[in-house]
Amino acid sequence: MSIESVLQENRLFAPSAEFAAGARVKSLAEYQAMCQHAEADYEGFWANLAREHLTWHKPFTQVLDQSNPPFYKWFADGELNVSYNCLDRHLPDLAHKIAVIFESDNGTVTKVTYAELHRLVCQFANGLKSLGVTKGDRVVVYMPMSIEAVVAMQACARIGAIHSVVFGGFSAKSLQERIIDAGAKIVITANGGVRGGKIVPLKATTDEALALGGCECVERVIVYKRVVHEDAPWTIGRDMWWHDLVKGKPETCEPTWVNAEDPLFILYTSGSTGKPKGVQHSSAGYLLGAVNTMLLTFDYRPDDVFWCTADVGWITGHSYVAYAPLAVGATQVIFEGIPTYPDAGRFWQMIERHRVTTFYTAPTAIRSLIKLGSDLPKQYNLSSLRLLGSVGEPINPEAWMWYHEVVGGGRCPIVDTWWQTETGSHMITPLPAAIATKPGSCTLPIPGIMVDIIDEAGEPVEKGKGGFLVIKKPFPSQVRTLWKDPERFKKSYFPEEYGGKYYLAGDSAHKDADGYIWIMGRIDDVLNVSGHRLGTMEIESALVGNSKVAEAAVVGRPDPIKGEAVVAFVVLKGARPAGDEAKALVAELRDWVAKEIGAIAKPDDIRFGDNLPKTRSGKIMRRLLRTIAKGEQITQDISTLENPAILQQLQEAV
Ligand code: PRX
Repeated sequence: MSIESVLQENRLFAPSAEFAAGARVKSLAEYQAMCQHAEADYEGFWANLAREHLTWHKPFTQVLDQSNPPFYKWFADGELNVSYNCLDRHLPDLAHKIAVIFESDNGTVTKVTYAELHRLVCQFANGLKSLGVTKGDRVVVYMPMSIEAVVAMQACARIGAIHSVVFGGFSAKSLQERIIDAGAKIVITANGGVRGGKIVPLKATTDEALALGGCECVERVIVYKRVVHEDAPWTIGRDMWWHDLVKGKPETCEPTWVNAEDPLFILYTSGSTGKPKGVQHSSAGYLLGAVNTMLLTFDYRPDDVFWCTADVGWITGHSYVAYAPLAVGATQVIFEGIPTYPDAGRFWQMIERHRVTTFYTAPTAIRSLIKLGSDLPKQYNLSSLRLLGSVGEPINPEAWMWYHEVVGGGRCPIVDTWWQTETGSHMITPLPAAIATKPGSCTLPIPGIMVDIIDEAGEPVEKGKGGFLVIKKPFPSQVRTLWKDPERFKKSYFPEEYGGKYYLAGDSAHKDADGYIWIMGRIDDVLNVSGHRLGTMEIESALVGNSKVAEAAVVGRPDPIKGEAVVAFVVLKGARPAGDEAKALVAELRDWVAKEIGAIAKPDDIRFGDNLPKTRSGKIMRRLLRTIAKGEQITQDISTLENPAILQQLQEAV
């Protein structure tokens, strides 16, 4: 989003008095008072919240430990259990409250209460224990959206095992890399996932991943039977059915009390280099961020029906499916399928069916649903909705207005939540009854989150000027380190170039005259495709891994639905192909990338050239490639370009 387009956006939507009346934070003045409290007594502010929102086995006496920056610790001498906080503590009152309403791809609905979920988690935790899984062991979860995926995560938390969830759309190779990096003892999968009427062969892909080699750490593969027929061969001694594992296991399981700083999970995400980063989160600080924002951003009320559409394979599905809704005792919807099956009315139909009050999804889903059926929401009764949320990428004002008017009936505030895998929970977002919204701005930080926008010298920039988004003080739900790579952690988030003081988010942003924050995009080589984070280098390494490819450069191109599309410029080892031969090779390379990384990383456009535009020192001139990808005329200075003739070749689409 350019600064110019942003400056034209001056519509302001104030929360209604009716909404504010029942809200937790009712006014801007209340919000400001919270921010001032955090400013005046930062540690006291967070310590109060940690006491109020979490149940401790052993209370903490230390708050923030900054003795070894940037490896900060929070509540470090306290002990608790995350699964206890999500389940057991609700049982006296909420045993019979519905915890999860699960809707399968074909529309079958299964509901579980808090007491039932507790039993499922305990039995599965006992199953894991019987296989020798203990505190600190890593467990990879490669599951479809299901109650069982949440049970698997919660069961790990219950026994102090560290889960590493791998999104079901990732390839065997991506799964294998994550299994090896984490040194996983167990892989939990399903014999299939069902999405849009099609079966996703998760067990077969797991077998393939393990057959790629290097996964000797894996002792067992636990398979949840989701589809009736068994579609993958069985490795005796290694593979085990979920239902056999839990059979006869005790229905209670004493939680393993862990230290506040013990890792709860690792989640891999893309960075500037080819290798994904294993973002490591703590137990207490992470959970505090999740609970605090569930209450503040979503203004959680006990009779809410909360629905976050994110897959548990992403951070949004961790924080706002597997943890936060349970930690506050909410009723939530979990959906197995896709928004367009059997038709583009599915989301709206489900909101009507389950009387959803709070709906949280990504701009890319909103944009594709506008395109497929702008009038469809009107066919459903969406009057249960009271709050809408957006996450993962900038929401363009047009999509925001449609979401507001057509889905929210003009009455539901929209919380545009800016955050990241690394921040664990929302950082910048309107509190819905306190902050008037502007379409396209994530507005102001959560109280206690100290955000600023700085220039290259580390100085705050003036209002209206773009700069680097930073978080100036350590906060509880912050990434603790990168799994087995503390040096990369320091370099990625606390780089020396910026003084090493602040958490560098990797986004550029600016503040408007009201101090509202507008996210402008990534400053590194990370693309945001349909709300998914992809490293250009990751895709480039996948492409050059193909025996026909000599060199590749990947850039993003603005896309009206996906936010960004992937464009790859490829130099082959052989001659540059033309016509049908080129088309066949494009198809082959797209499939290759899907196999190497996953279908989400498939280039939308592949161009072949005899070379890439380079400076005399051999550096690829990516800004020229970005212009070509957009189909625009090159107006930049190309005097440093060694091979100007290449530009025309690359402008020719296949
Ligand atoms: O560029 C920002 C964008 O998504 C990045 C984080 O991606 P990931 O770790 O996959 O987490 C996505 C879900 C939290 C950010 O660096 N981003 C996320 N939310 C927004 C956003 N950009 C603009 N507005 C948002 N609300």
